Amino acid sequence: METGNKVIIESRQGEALVTEGGKPDGKKLFIESYGCQMNFSDSEIVASILLDQGFSTTGDFNEADVIFVNTCAIREGAEQRVRKRLTEFKNAKKKNPDLVVGVLGCMAERLKAKFLEEEKLVDIVVGPDAYRDLPNLIGRAEEGHKAVNVILSKEETYADITPVRLDSNGVTAFISIMRGCDNMCSFCVVPFTRGRERSRDPESIVSEARDLFEKGYREVTLLGQNVDSYLWAGGGLKKEILTDEQRAQAVNFAQLLEKVALVNPLLRVRFSTSHPKDMTDDVLHTMAKYENICKYIHLPVQSGNSDVLERMNRGYSREWYMERINTIRRIMPEAGISTDIMTGFCGETEAEHRDSVSLMEWGEYDFAYMFAYSERPKTQAERQFEDDIPEELKKKRLQEIIEIQQESSMKKTKAMVGKVHRVLVERTSKKDENKWMGRNTQNMVLVFPKGELKPGDYVDVLATTCTATTLIGEIVR
Ligand code: SAH
Ligand code: SF4
Ligand code: F3S
Repeated sequence: METGNKVIIESRQGEALVTEGGKPDGKKLFIESYGCQMNFSDSEIVASILLDQGFSTTGDFNEADVIFVNTCAIREGAEQRVRKRLTEFKNAKKKNPDLVVGVLGCMAERLKAKFLEEEKLVDIVVGPDAYRDLPNLIGRAEEGHKAVNVILSKEETYADITPVRLDSNGVTAFISIMRGCDNMCSFCVVPFTRGRERSRDPESIVSEARDLFEKGYREVTLLGQNVDSYLWAGGGLKKEILTDEQRAQAVNFAQLLEKVALVNPLLRVRFSTSHPKDMTDDVLHTMAKYENICKYIHLPVQSGNSDVLERMNRGYSREWYMERINTIRRIMPEAGISTDIMTGFCGETEAEHRDSVSLMEWGEYDFAYMFAYSERPKTQAERQFEDDIPEELKKKRLQEIIEIQQESSMKKTKAMVGKVHRVLVERTSKKDENKWMGRNTQNMVLVFPKGELKPGDYVDVLATTCTATTLIGEIVR
């Protein structure tokens, strides 16, 4: 079993997400999403494209005309989960032969037509850059043809498509600011499944944020695989071929962040993911300057050892990474910091693992996503190195890292007890319907009595006690 963030990622894995609207007598779409926030955000683009075609969404796949599974290929375990689910849908198809089943996203891109030929599990296979083709592909599938489009694009950002918000609390929303990744970390499948990096027009991002604010949303999270690499120099201008002058005039991530922060002081801004090799002090100063940019950074380290980082092709050393963390803490002492780390990468020695252990102890993260290395086909690591750490040892090392993190999380949470936190009310607490849940600027979850409040309100909450990952509080008048 994979060990990841149980609260934020795992709990949403595979949930069907629905939205209001669409024609009640139209066809019904059931869409289930796996993987990262970008995939969830893509599902909202897909839903938008199909709602335009007269579809409505449903949370019950038994009443669906079309079932889409938006898939993740990041680790073997993620793919296994999807395979299992697709077999269930295949059985549903036996009962309803007109049902169309489509696989979308990263696993579709990785396996391409194999899904149709070898496994015969689905009717449609669509990669992340081909969603505009969905109405056409559904038409083909309904005529009994197999439909595939896995063409990756260098330009597609879906900038002109207004996503419909699925399963929305009406308060927080994701905005994709770029697609793809040019980094080629040796372990990672993303560059193969999502193609080349491209940034989205900042005006379309700002207007999406403004539109959300006007609809009552109070928090946006800007999404990209490496947000620090965001650069917009005008339509069609590729980052690699810019003149010095064009580069100087281009909008970088720090500038984009400022533009979004200026939409309204009541609109909170978050972003994910930062890359240690590219995160600039400019971004940190911009964060410090605006109250409404949340003081929270997710800065994946992957390993605490410089040789391993080199084999991973991450582009930084242990020392460089530590300097970045020190700089965050210097510029924003109150910032919440989280990370991603993996154990058992190719050739990882005991000494190299100890460096990850010491880095995790040193980092005192508020939160971490922790994984055992899973070899992915086609990646540089698969071609160049041997996946030579036994599963048992990967798991043992992972467990060690998890225990350190549990202690850090507990310590960080406890340190917040007794303090007053500005919280954005998001939704009813899952555990207690008389309470709201919301988060403070550091992304820590608080649960507190409903009082006269409603989602979208800001409130000061005194944290009186805590569990490992949640603060329990009282409203401060
Ligand atoms: N773009 C982000 C990461 C996206 S993938 C970044 O560069 O930080 C999310 C996380 O999954 C990664 O940070 C990494 O910790 C983990 N991951 C990626 N590939 C993996 C693999 N092959 N095995 C195990 N974990 C992996
Ligand atoms: Fe994968 Fe590296 Fe790109 Fe992150 S930065 S998506 S880990 S290649
Ligand atoms: Fe998974 Fe693709 Fe995201 S592989 S983590 S869904 S970019």
